[in-house]
Amino acid sequence: MTATHPTTRHLVGRSEDVPEGGRHVVDVAGTTIGVFRFKGRLYAYENVCPHQGGPVCQGRLVPRVAEVLDEDKCSRGQRFDSDDLHIVCPWHGFEYSVATGAHPGHRHIRLRDFPVDEEEGNVYVTA
Ligand code: FES
Repeated sequence: MTATHPTTRHLVGRSEDVPEGGRHVVDVAGTTIGVFRFKGRLYAYENVCPHQGGPVCQGRLVPRVAEVLDEDKCSRGQRFDSDDLHIVCPWHGFEYSVATGAHPGHRHIRLRDFPVDEEEGNVYVTA
């Protein structure tokens, strides 16, 4: 959860505006927020990359790239990990897990998150 204390629940769209594996970017109380749905769960992050402030929530969504190792720990190439969807910041390519908001190599670098929920076909962000 964020260090700040959001207080107001805002309607940000209909459930169908946030398809599985997709995103919906909205302005909420003066802050641009990306709402994502992955494996049926909703996540909401400020559209500001911790690197240099790029519009991270508008970047490409791609599965995490994982190294394939053999029994001797030698690389046998790479594969996509469909269990971990990443947002790729369009400015310099920093990646963040949609499910955690964290950079995969530096877990202390993370997106600012917001509470998000869904009720009767509507999506709400508390900010
Ligand atoms: S501002 Fe996002 S990677 Fe640099």
